[in-house]
Amino acid sequence: MRIARTLTDLRRFCADLSGGYGFVPTMGALHDGHVALVTAAKAAGAPVVASIFVNPTQFGPNEDFLAYPRTEEADLEKLEAAGCALVWMPDVATMYPAGEATTVTVGGPASRWEGEKRPGHFAGVATVVAKLFGQVRPARAYFGEKDWQQIQVITRMTRDLLLPVEIVPVPTVREADGLALSSRNRFLGAAERELAPALHAAMQATASRLRRGDAVDAALAEGVRTLGPALHPDYYALVDAESLEPLTTLQSPARLIAAARLGRIRLLDNVPVG
Ligand code: PAJ
Repeated sequence: MRIARTLTDLRRFCADLSGGYGFVPTMGALHDGHVALVTAAKAAGAPVVASIFVNPTQFGPNEDFLAYPRTEEADLEKLEAAGCALVWMPDVATMYPAGEATTVTVGGPASRWEGEKRPGHFAGVATVVAKLFGQVRPARAYFGEKDWQQIQVITRMTRDLLLPVEIVPVPTVREADGLALSSRNRFLGAAERELAPALHAAMQATASRLRRGDAVDAALAEGVRTLGPALHPDYYALVDAESLEPLTTLQSPARLIAAARLGRIRLLDNVPVG
C-alpha cells in the first residue's frame, strides 16, 4: 500500500493504478464501518484509493475539530489489511490554498436536519468531497448509509456539477446490540454505551409500526417516547429518502432518520421504511 502526502506523489501513484478505481473518503479514526466501504470497493474488482483528512470546514465553531480522534498508525494498518492500494493524506494547506474563494453549497437535501443543526456543515462536506474527487479522479466513490443525508447531498452535488463519478452507498455496520459504528462512540462512557442502542431499537419499532399502517404522527411520537429520558432527540422524522423532505404519510422511498444527544455525544441513525 502506498501513502501519498503531497499532490505530486498522489499524481504519480494514481498514474500507476490501472483502469478506473474506487475511492473511499474518510476522516480517519477508522472502524469496521469504514473497512466495509473498502471491502465493497474492492469487490468491484478495481484498485481502491482511500483518503484520510479531518476536514476543518465541516466542523462548527463549537464542535470537536481539535478533539476529533486521530489514530493514523492504526488507520493505515486497517486500510492495508482491507486491501487498499493507495492512501491520500493531504494537509490543510493543500486542501485549502491561501486566498481560496470557492465553496460548494448544496440546497435541496442539505437544507433540513443536519443542515439546520450544523450550519455550514454540508458546505464543508460538499466542498472537500468535490476537491477530493478532482484530485483523485475515481470512477466510483463509496459512502456509508450511516450518514444518509450526507449521501443524498453528495449524490445531488455530483449530478448537479456533472462530475464523472458514480456514488455507491454501503449499508450501515452495527454493533451486535444495534448501535451504528461511529468514530465518536469511543467517547461514550460505560453507562451511556448501555443506553445508546435504545435509539436504533426505537427506530426499528417505529419502522414496523409505519409498515403496519399506523399514522405517521402517532408512530413518530411513540418512537420519541420510547427513547427514554437520557436520549434527547434533535429530530426524529420520516422523510423522502432522496429529497429529505418530511412525509406525513408513508410513501416510497421513505427513510426514518434521527439524531439524538446522549451526554456530550450526538448519535445519528437511519433505517429504511417500506
Ligand atoms: P467519516 O465520518 O470518517 O466517514 C467516512 C465514511 O464512512 C462515510 O461515508 C460514512 O458514512 C462511512 N461510515 C461511518 N460509519 C459507518 C458505519 N457504521 N457503517 C457504514 N459506513 C460508515 O463522513 C465523513 O467522514 C466525512 O464527512 C467525509 C465524507 C470524509 C468528508 O470529509
